[in-house]
Amino acid sequence: MKPSEPRRSPRPVPAHLRDLLAAMTLDEKIGQLVMVSLGAETIVTGPKAAEEPSVDDVRTGRVGSVLNLVGRDRIHALQRIAVEESRLKIPLLFGLDVIHGYRTAFPVPLAETAAFRPDLWEATARAAAEEATDDGLALTFAPMLDLARDPRWGRIVEGPGEDPTVGRAYARAKVAGFQGRDLARPDGLAATAKHFFAYGAATAGRDYASVDLSERTLHEFYLPAFEAAVKAGCLAIMPAFCDIAGRPVSGDRGWLTELVRDAWGFDGIYVSDYDAIGELVAHGVAADMAEAAARALHAGLDVDMMSRAYPDGLKPALERGLVSQTDLDAAVLRVLAAKDRLGLFEAPYGRGDPSRPPARSRDARRALARDVAAASMVLLKNDAAVLPLGPRGGPIALIGPVAARPAEMIGSWFCLGDQEEIVSLADGLAAAFPERPLTVVEGCDLDGDDDAGIPAAVAAAEAADVVLLAIGEPAGMTGEAASRAHPRLTGRQRDLARAVLATGRPVVVLLSCGRPLVEPEIFEKAAAVLVVWGPGSEGGHAVADLVCGRRSPSGRLPVSWPAAIGQIPVFYGERPSGRPFAEGEHFTTRYLDVANEPAFPFGAGLGYAPFDLSDPVVDRPRFRPGEALRLTATLANRGSVEAATTVFLFVRDRVASTARPLLELARFRTETLAPGESRELVFTLGDDDFALLGPDLAPRLEPGAFDLSLGFSADRRALRTVTVELVDADAAIV
Ligand code: NOJ
Repeated sequence: MKPSEPRRSPRPVPAHLRDLLAAMTLDEKIGQLVMVSLGAETIVTGPKAAEEPSVDDVRTGRVGSVLNLVGRDRIHALQRIAVEESRLKIPLLFGLDVIHGYRTAFPVPLAETAAFRPDLWEATARAAAEEATDDGLALTFAPMLDLARDPRWGRIVEGPGEDPTVGRAYARAKVAGFQGRDLARPDGLAATAKHFFAYGAATAGRDYASVDLSERTLHEFYLPAFEAAVKAGCLAIMPAFCDIAGRPVSGDRGWLTELVRDAWGFDGIYVSDYDAIGELVAHGVAADMAEAAARALHAGLDVDMMSRAYPDGLKPALERGLVSQTDLDAAVLRVLAAKDRLGLFEAPYGRGDPSRPPARSRDARRALARDVAAASMVLLKNDAAVLPLGPRGGPIALIGPVAARPAEMIGSWFCLGDQEEIVSLADGLAAAFPERPLTVVEGCDLDGDDDAGIPAAVAAAEAADVVLLAIGEPAGMTGEAASRAHPRLTGRQRDLARAVLATGRPVVVLLSCGRPLVEPEIFEKAAAVLVVWGPGSEGGHAVADLVCGRRSPSGRLPVSWPAAIGQIPVFYGERPSGRPFAEGEHFTTRYLDVANEPAFPFGAGLGYAPFDLSDPVVDRPRFRPGEALRLTATLANRGSVEAATTVFLFVRDRVASTARPLLELARFRTETLAPGESRELVFTLGDDDFALLGPDLAPRLEPGAFDLSLGFSADRRALRTVTVELVDADAAIV
């Protein structure tokens, strides 16, 4: 567990903004706190508003920010009304969900996480920011940092998986990438860390459902990524829709202000989720819009996205004495300061300036998309080295509903992008195998009951040397409001897979998905399984790069992949049981009908080269607080091709005042090695890596033995461990 990083020092508010605040009417102040979906052809990302906002609201200063409008001409036209026709000429802030690319689609976030490459995470955020700001946008509602252990929850696709250390690294990389060198520059895109927080722990994986977790679990697992985003300087945070143990986050001053602003030093803005302030009424903590507005504003929530709570409720709330003018002024100042940091007062049309040359060429963006997509795919099985396929040989049958559908490459939640520009599996594979006959057969639909195409698929399989079976879950079935009690293949795809597997031809499953799909039978019978996720615009080429062996697969699972739905939530960071599983012992922790282990652990993934890892060696077996501990090991590529692999370093605190998880990830490192190459890996560990939260949830060091384990995944049976001892530690870390 890594304790809190030092608090950030909030920036002082410039004097000219205080003067501006002093000149504002009450309506204009409230207006700055209102974000609406407005303008021609806006994208829809939430329930329809009861009352349509109008452009006139911009002119009269009743709107401060706009979401879901795209196109620099439309954005500038609306900005012109704010800046040239409204009384105080305060620029609008334009935001959109730029989740995994803007026009160029990169892999869905869960997939990108699987690359375990912070440099790539940052690079795709930067490329997306360049495209989005080039279109006039100033704010993205990303990155999504919700730790998720439950693949029933459709939004698992939007975040960095189950591990808090990965979540921290992902948060830093994304904030740095989106915001760039200087937020005030025309290519600076403000990042929104969302959804603060624990939204991924929705009861039974049902989106928008209540969350109830211990304070310890919240602090150890669910908060770290958000803290890292704040410390990295993210301009915005979006509170989650959910309540945590009866405290809806959007109305909770303890979480929003006391923890994040006061203790961490967050000085940006909170932007509500869509309608979330109004939903405080449905949560049962506010009787009407005035109470909802008062509660959220006092909690510290600055901007109301698409509920009528602030526009309709704040005035009556002030009149009824439910909230103070001080709270209102503080929120307005924060919004003005955010606009100022974005350079909007100085250059309201700076983003989307047509005279600014594009930051990088189309070819460069496409090359990045292809590289990241290939780096994120996870090879889970490859019996008898069926992959890669040689350039010459007998026919290949590409079978399945994902084979020729570009939209399935894009993955969930991608607003823009030209369908013509997406490379399908069929096109990518045809380009990679010019000398092998390639037959493409759909077999069945992605969803629905029509199985009429299965006989043709079987015939194609029988006529081929090898089958590439392109199946999965429709892209639209992951993301928001897309929970599934059965996270499995949809429609008749299981029947299609069984029929094709029954031909006895070697079958390589190309699995397109945004979450683990629980299909043990198919995984067992297939010769190979490559999880391609929603790989993005260059998906077909990236898959082909791996299938033909131009590149070795290197993605690793950022979530444990369940073997059975009943195991959910299954994750590697469990705390020990008093009765650990023991073979043949009845009264130990286990299922009667399935093993405890997931089908594939966190970190699982294969490549085309075997790697060896030596036993770890430490520079000292005993160490004291404040001392750095060096751990080294040698990694060697024993194969005949260049390949990348990820090495994970876990810590286990054997005995502590509070039981520690069986494994905690301290470091991960992805290395590319030439055939036959060896490399010494050096990891330097410090107090943070050995600290835990004491019974009072304050970070502290406790003396005793720690296991340091290195390996290629969280499979405990395959780790190599060295034990060290912390001595002279009896003081809490401040
Ligand atoms: C609702 C989603 O929960 C959130 O992630 C998104 O940013 C907003 N809608 C705006 O589209």
